[in-house]
Formats: sequence, structure tokens, C-alpha cells
Amino acid sequence: MKEQKDYLKAHKDRFLEELFDLLRVPSISADSAYRDDTMKAAEVVKESLKKAGADKAEICPTPGYPIVYAEKIIDPSLPTVLVYGHYDVQPPDPMNLWDSQPFEPVIRNTERHPEGAIFARGACDDKGQMFMHVKALELMTQTNSLACNVKFMIEGEEEVGSANLGWFVERNRDKLKNDVILISDTGMLDNDVPSITTGLRGLSYVEVKVSGPNRDLHSGLYGGGVANPNNILAQMIASLTDENNHITIPGFYDDVEELSDEERKELAKAPFDAERYKKALDLSDVHGEAGYSTPERTSIRPTLDVNGIWGGYTGEGAKTVIPAYAQAKISMRLVPNQDPDKITELFKKHFESIAPSSVKVEVTPHHGGEPYVSPIDSKGYQAASLAMEESFGKKPVPVRSGGSIPIVALFERELESKSILMGFGLDTDAIHSPNEHYGVFNFFKGIETIPLFYKHFKELND
Ligand code: BES
Ligand code: MN
Ligand code: MN
Repeated sequence: MKEQKDYLKAHKDRFLEELFDLLRVPSISADSAYRDDTMKAAEVVKESLKKAGADKAEICPTPGYPIVYAEKIIDPSLPTVLVYGHYDVQPPDPMNLWDSQPFEPVIRNTERHPEGAIFARGACDDKGQMFMHVKALELMTQTNSLACNVKFMIEGEEEVGSANLGWFVERNRDKLKNDVILISDTGMLDNDVPSITTGLRGLSYVEVKVSGPNRDLHSGLYGGGVANPNNILAQMIASLTDENNHITIPGFYDDVEELSDEERKELAKAPFDAERYKKALDLSDVHGEAGYSTPERTSIRPTLDVNGIWGGYTGEGAKTVIPAYAQAKISMRLVPNQDPDKITELFKKHFESIAPSSVKVEVTPHHGGEPYVSPIDSKGYQAASLAMEESFGKKPVPVRSGGSIPIVALFERELESKSILMGFGLDTDAIHSPNEHYGVFNFFKGIETIPLFYKHFKELND
């Protein structure tokens, strides 16, 4: 223990510098202009794993971006931990809202990170969190304290739906065999309120197009005589929720797991400060489904959101035009036991049915993902709980998150093991937003906690 602490202390600056090197690589999986950079990030991760002491570290090609695989098998009779993370990041736009360059990491203080935070795209999601595991491996190797076998599977397509990870997992079941999957790609409640994520929402993502006339029209000559796709799309979208912010798609809630009052009470124990929540977002009020609290609305309840909407003239000045078409990207966050394919089908059927005969509608599905819940009585959860209790001096609380990591449900099916979501980000770390950051405290706390997970997981399996 002391040796580990000393090692961490002695190498802190270098650990940060190495993370900065990874953050400087703009591995934006969604944008093909960054293909070489995304490939380079895989290389950097592979090299870092070798350096950290892995016996084997390789780049495994897939039809898309490669998966970095590494392992250190110290004794086949010991339990094996599989670490999952991702080296790809979200596009940084809108660029003008960044206070520093997204791929030139800098440390600045924030209200919730008085000890400093690393500002860069991917700092929290997920390079900073994934890299804690690499540095924890180095620390355990160098101090001779690795308690379990370890495997790493770091992908480069998480932010675009992990299309090829299933492909890789199905072909490598033996190689990936493990006793527990450990993931740091989520958050915790606060730096002095540790928590472990026990649920993730699923996702159904569709793109819709409403078409009207065969060309853009003069809105004076034709206005009033034909359907305006912008107006119609807005009306159709508005009708997807009612005055209670309930989703109106028939059958949408059929499979939703309703929590008992008991379970809701248990979840309500996690502290939530509504005033701080509003202040952080500059909002005078919150919004959501009637009958549920904000933490419930963002975790155990499904949602429907328009992520982007466009059509017609959006340039400078005024152009009088009725557009030929209007489009929107719509996501639905799902909860247990909703099935993404079924929800996509229900959406499509409903959306087509509410379109007036004056327009044409197309619904195109994008990637989806299943929701996930993990029990708190598993050895994996217990090990994470003990590890955090030891490093934070406080027992972590279980919390269900609103975000999605679609591949976690597939891991359970294909690899038959549970994923433990031991994340160290804060909800205000601005992941996917301008000025994404990750606390320096959180980075080092993670490196301190991870070896304790291995220690407790081994002991619980003895
Ligand atoms: N790491 C996030 C998911 C997350 C963040 C879960 C915080 C819980 C707490 C992940 O990289 C992500 O952004 N997932 C996407 C889904 C994916 C299919 C693009 C999401 O949730 O929108
Ligand atoms: Mn992530
Ligand atoms: Mn993300």
C-alpha cells in the first residue's frame, strides 16, 4: 500500500504528461477527416500498455477502427479482470465556445475541481478515465502488487455506436474470457460522495425526413396552398409528447420496468441538489415527465429528444421560401425492459401514421443499444464498493445513470460476465460539450482506487 502511494507520488507529473500526449491526438471517430489521428491514438494506447507492463499488447483490425488488446496473465488460477474503455472522442464543435483549444490540454481550476481540471476533448470521456487503468497497471507491475490477471480491450468506435465491437467479441470469446469487466466511462455524484453506476439507459436513434414540394418554393406565391415541411415536422414532433411530458407513441411504455415505491425510496437516498443543478445550467426551472423527480427522469424513465433539426433557409438575413423538405435526428433513451428494435419499429409506424397526406415521410434508424442494470450483491460490485470505501474513506452509493454504453449488454450475453461501472467523472465535466474537463483529483483517485479493486476482487474470490 505504502509502496503504491509512494510510486504514484513520485510519478504524478509524468502520468499527467503521458495523458496529455494522448489527449493531443484528435481521434474523432465520427469524422473521416481524422482517420489517421484515430489510428494513431490506437497506437499510442498500445504502446502505453506495453510500457505499463503488459506481456502482450496488439492492435486488432476490425472492419472499422481497430481494437487495442493487451494482457498480463500472472497466474491462470487467479481471477481475470477485463478492462474496457474507448480511445475515440466526440467532435469538439462548436469550436468558438471553447476557452482553450480542445486538443491542447491545459489545467485550470473550477468550482467543483479546486485542485485543477484537465481541459481537453476526451479528458473525461474516456481517455482520462481509460488511461487511469493503464497507469494503475504500471503502478501494480512496478510495485509487484498485481492481484489478478488483467486483459484490456480498448475500442475506437464507442462514440459512433460500437458497430464492430460485437464483431470482435464474437470472434474472440476465448481470448476475452474473464471473471469481471471493469469500466471507467461513467461518473460519480461528487468528489466527496463516491458512487457506483448500477444502470445505463438503452438507446434508439432515428433520423426523419418530411418532404413536401419537389423544390424550394416562393413562400408568397405558394404560401397557404401547400404543406410546409418545416411547419409539419414541428407539429409532428410536438405531438410526440403530451402536456405531462409523456411520450404519445402507442406501446412505448408497455415494457417499461416500473420500480416499486421501496426501490424508488432507495434511489432517492442519493443526494441531489436541485438549486445547484439549475445554477450549473443557467436554468430557472427544470422540465420533465410529471410524477417523477429529476434524478428519476434522467435514469429510470425513458425519454424522447430531438438532437438536431433543420430545413429551409438558415443563412443570414431573410429569404422567403417554403422548403422542399425538413429533417430531424431523434433519440429515445430506453430503460429496462424496453427493446431498442421494437421501440424503433413503434416509432416508425407511429410517425408515418401521423403524417398528413400532403407530405411524404421517411424514417431511417441509426444505431441502438440495450439498457443495462447490475446487481449490487455480485463480487464485482462488492470489490468496487470496498475499493472506493478504502480510497475515499466513504462507502459509495449505487446510482443508475441516464447515459448509454450499448456494448455492456452485449458483453453480458457474449462473455457471460457482469460489467462494473466504476467511473470517476462528475456530471458537470461537460462531456460531449465545449470545455470538457476531468479533475486532476479524479484522475489520481482513480489510479489509487483501481489496484484496490483488484485486491478486493481477488480476496472475494479466494
Ligand atoms: N461515456 C459515455 C456514456 C456515459 C457517460 C454513461 C456518463 C454514463 C455517464 C459514452 O461515451 C457515450 O457518450 N455514450 C453515448 C452512446 C453512444 C451510442 C454514442 C451516449 O450515451 O449518448
Ligand atoms: Mn464514453
Ligand atoms: Mn461519450
